[in-house]
Amino acid sequence: MTDIKACIFDLDGVIVDTAKYHFIAWRELAEELRFEFTEEHNERLKGVSRMTSLEILLEVGGITLDEEQKLKLAAQKNDRYVSYIEKMTPDEILPGVVSFLNELRLAGIKTAIGSASKNTPLILERLKLEKFFDAVVDGNKVSEAKPNPEVFLKGASELGFEPKNCIVFEDAVAGVEAAHNARMKCVGIGFPEVLGKADMVIPGFQRFNLSKLKEI
Ligand code: G6P
Ligand code: MG
Repeated sequence: MTDIKACIFDLDGVIVDTAKYHFIAWRELAEELRFEFTEEHNERLKGVSRMTSLEILLEVGGITLDEEQKLKLAAQKNDRYVSYIEKMTPDEILPGVVSFLNELRLAGIKTAIGSASKNTPLILERLKLEKFFDAVVDGNKVSEAKPNPEVFLKGASELGFEPKNCIVFEDAVAGVEAAHNARMKCVGIGFPEVLGKADMVIPGFQRFNLSKLKEI
């Protein structure tokens, strides 16, 4: 059994459903470039960095661009994305998240965010969640993308715990792999068919609690 001292949470798709805003912003960009970008295509962008997401989008559209043009388009997409997430409110926190975070606080278990998103500070501020996390490791602090374990190892070290005492919560396949590469156990948020490699898979935090986590 794991001696749980810390929980490290991915942000997008775990704490809040920002995927829909990423999708709208990427789809608008694709429209401007005159090709269709579907929700199915968008699945490939989950957990993937901004620039890699753009590469995938351009591949879908069969478009080749130079580095300067790519940076311009990524910035354009991000401006749009930010205009959506700026309007988010705490109502958009996924069900059960706040009560689970409160339970962890009461139990003395430390918490961190481990996300690829450079917009993490803005999202946490809009959702009024900053006070729930003892450390925030995001795309501004790491250079390696998941499945590289850097983001979670940094989270553990900022909290001062060994990986073996940390549990990761992830909705992306690359994130589950990153957790395992960091030698941490992982709770998958989503469908077992997709996240089968996780040590436990739950549909969300509703009806989830610490005693269930301890079964991991
Ligand atoms: C998360 C999301 C990805 C997103 C990435 C970078 O991992 O799941 O879809 O591309 O963060 O986000 P950013 O806010 O920095 O563009
Ligand atoms: Mg995610």
